[in-house]
Formats: sequence, structure tokens, C-alpha cells
Amino acid sequence: MDSLFCFTLFFCLLCLSLFPPFASSALLFQGFNWESSGKGGWYNSLKNTIPDIANAGVTHVWLPPPSQSVSPQGYLPGRLYDLDASKYGSKDELKSLIAAFHAKGIKCLADIVINHRTAERKDSRGIYCIFEGGTPDSRLDWGPHFICKDDTTYSDGTGNNDSGEPYQPAPDIDHLNPQVRRELSDWMNWLKTEIGFDGWRFDFVRGYTPDATKTYMENTSPDFAVGENWNRLSIGPDGKPDYNQDTARGELANWAENGSGAVKAFDFTTKGILQAGVEGELWRLKDSNGKPSGLIGLKPENAVTFIDNHDTGSTQKLWPFPSDKVMQGYAYILTHPGTPTIFYDHFFDWGLKGEISKLSEIRIQSGINEKSNVNILAAEGDLYVAEIDNKIIVKIGPKMDLGNLIPPNFKVATSGQNYAVWH
Ligand SMILES: *[C@@H]1O[C@H](CO)[C@@H](O)[C@H](O)[C@H]1NC(C)=O
Ligand SMILES: *[C@@H]1O[C@H](CO)[C@@H](O)[C@H](O)[C@H]1NC(C)=O
Repeated sequence: MDSLFCFTLFFCLLCLSLFPPFASSALLFQGFNWESSGKGGWYNSLKNTIPDIANAGVTHVWLPPPSQSVSPQGYLPGRLYDLDASKYGSKDELKSLIAAFHAKGIKCLADIVINHRTAERKDSRGIYCIFEGGTPDSRLDWGPHFICKDDTTYSDGTGNNDSGEPYQPAPDIDHLNPQVRRELSDWMNWLKTEIGFDGWRFDFVRGYTPDATKTYMENTSPDFAVGENWNRLSIGPDGKPDYNQDTARGELANWAENGSGAVKAFDFTTKGILQAGVEGELWRLKDSNGKPSGLIGLKPENAVTFIDNHDTGSTQKLWPFPSDKVMQGYAYILTHPGTPTIFYDHFFDWGLKGEISKLSEIRIQSGINEKSNVNILAAEGDLYVAEIDNKIIVKIGPKMDLGNLIPPNFKVATSGQNYAVWH
């Protein structure tokens, strides 16, 4: 071979190995549930589980809201810079936990609760609307002017109207105020530089405009960020989800686009379709264009799939996945595009660590990523079969007779109750 050709070939191979065609293959883990704050020393106990989380190929772990909060779970925060009053552990324990994840190459997301904020003291009217940041230099020390004008319980009527949905239990913060955006961006950057966080999970983003999310994204450049836009599916007259969920998933796609395009959205559409589908209605998983019917069939690079979280499952059970079909759910999300999330409860408390880890191993070995291609081979009541990237085939549902759907060169990679994966 001619040496210039050899050199070029070598150079190309080197480039490909250093810079593969970019499509992220992140795998998220939710590292807490609704009861974790009551367990005492959650940060320290989670540290002991890091080897198992790392073995499952997890790239990012979502940690609970870190600041002082009126409610133990952290979702009614007040002194944002005060990380020592958290029920999950101290600031130093949090830093040490994050450092331990980093040592295994796992990045950490902070749960960013900024739609609303609880005040420290009452004003002269006797209303709780005087905020304290929790630092000596009065950062985030705000008054009633920072509360949305139409939140009449708390505001003094001088802010802007709420740019999103109202939140009853605490004052709604005015994200149209540039000082709010600046000081919250500073706080998030402090969480990065001082505490070690790498990215964000934005709580209740329906409460404020995605334009504010865009500002926070641009000002803080997270490694990974996802928002909780918990929207509802379209429901038919029979009380069941409609077959067509373009409205719900379109709303998620628009939110992510308006929120910078770099932010992802939890795929509530896929969750709803999937948990209805595993009850003998697997035809739901193929849309009228032959693609997956959730956000992963529209904007997979912006979709973060999940089975349950601290709200929908755990002890709150606001919208739980059918408990006996959870592994079918994981077989779906861990073989499909989007960024899948593994929930602490399923992995550790439900004894599914082995089955879930096997599926994630197949995902990683087959190079399945957020933009992988899905070719749906069957979507009937009791059978769903899809080929992903021409590398693996997944089947969920109780039907055993697959006819000739599985080519003879594909071999079983893993299987469990009503699911199987071939490669
Ligand atoms: C603000 O909200 C109030 C109460 O909902 C409403 O009456 C008012 O018209 C709104 N103002 C603007 C500028 O939208
Ligand atoms: C988001 O973007 C869509 C499409 O560009 C637009 O129609 C919509 O009004 C925007 N929504 C918000 C809340 O900014």
C-alpha cells in the first residue's frame, strides 16, 4: 500500500475512535425516593451503592434537592445556599458523595427547585415573603417584589404576573425579573464549582416560561439537563389514553426547543403509553407513521424515558406503572432511543438489579444511543417486537408464537417474564 494512503487510513481510524459520530448514550439513575430523607444520612448510605450503580453502566445520577427546605424531601426550599440543613445529610457529606461518583466516572445532577421558594420571615403585613439565601453576603435575600404579582397570597403587587402555572403551597418566584435569573444562575454555578454538580434536573418547569430555562442553560452550561414537564396524555371518552398522543409529545418537544434545545424533557408521553400498552394494548407503541408513539418517536435526542419516579411511584404512587410488568417497561426503554432512567426502588428495593443491569449491558455493547433507529416488526395487543439499529431485537408481551419474526442469525441475549432480547 502507498504510504500516503496508509497514513490517511490510520488518521481516519484514529479520528473515528477519538471522535465517534456524536450521539450520546447517557444512562440516568434516580438516586432517591420519596422516603429517602427520613432514612437518616442518605448521602452516606448512597455512597455504599456506587459500585452496583457503576456496574450497570450508569453515566449520570440524579440526586435530591440539596438546600434547606420546609418539607423534608426538599421540594419546598428556602435558604438555597444552606446545604447543611438538608435531611439527606450535610454539605460535606454531599461533596464527598459527588466526589465518590466522579471517581467512578459518573456525573451528578442537582434537583433544581426554583419555580417557588419558601420565605424565612414575615413582612410588616404579617405575610411570609422575606427570603434569605443562607449566605453572609445577602445573595438571594429577596422581598415580596420577587413574587409573581398574581400570586396574591404573598406578593405586594409589584412583580410580573406568573409566566407559567401557579403553585399553591409556596410563593411563586418571578422568573421574568432579570435579577432572579442572574442570582439563580450564580447559585447554580456555585453548585457546580463549590459542590461538584455537573448538571440539572429542573423541577416543575410548567410553573415558569421555558425562556427562563433557556437563560439558566446558557448561563450555567450543564453537562446534562432534563426538565419535569409533567403534562397529561389526551384521554378518550372511555377514560383511556387516546391512540394519538401527538399533542402531549409535541408539547414536550416545544418546551425543550424553547428551553434552549439542549435541555431534555422527561418523556411522560412514553410512560403513559407504555404502562397502558403492557395491559394487553401493545398496539399503542406504534404510531400512525410506524414509529414509537412517545417523545422518543418525535425528538429522541430530547427524551428522557423512565418507568416511575419519586412522585409517580415510590410511596406516593401518583401514577404508578403496573408493578408486575415493570421489567417489560425496562426491556422497552433500555433497548430504545432516548436517555433511559433507572429508578432506585426498582434496582435496589425490588431486587431487579441483575435483570436491569443485563439489559443495560446489552444496550452499551450494541451501541444503542439516544438517536438509535427503531424498526417496529409487530405491535399487537399482546406482542410488541422491534429491531433497533439492525443490532438487537426486543420483544415484550405474553404472546409466545413469534412466527418468523426473529431471523435465525439472532441469538437470545437475555430474557425474563414476558420479554426477551436477541442480538
Ligand atoms: C395579571 O393577572 C391578573 C390576575 O389573574 C389579571 O387580572 C391581569 O390582567 C394580569 N395582568 C397582565 C398584564 O397580564
Ligand atoms: C414554544 O415554541 C412554540 C413553537 O415555536 C410556540 O408556538 C410556543 O408559543 C412556545 N411556547 C412557549 C411557552 O414559549
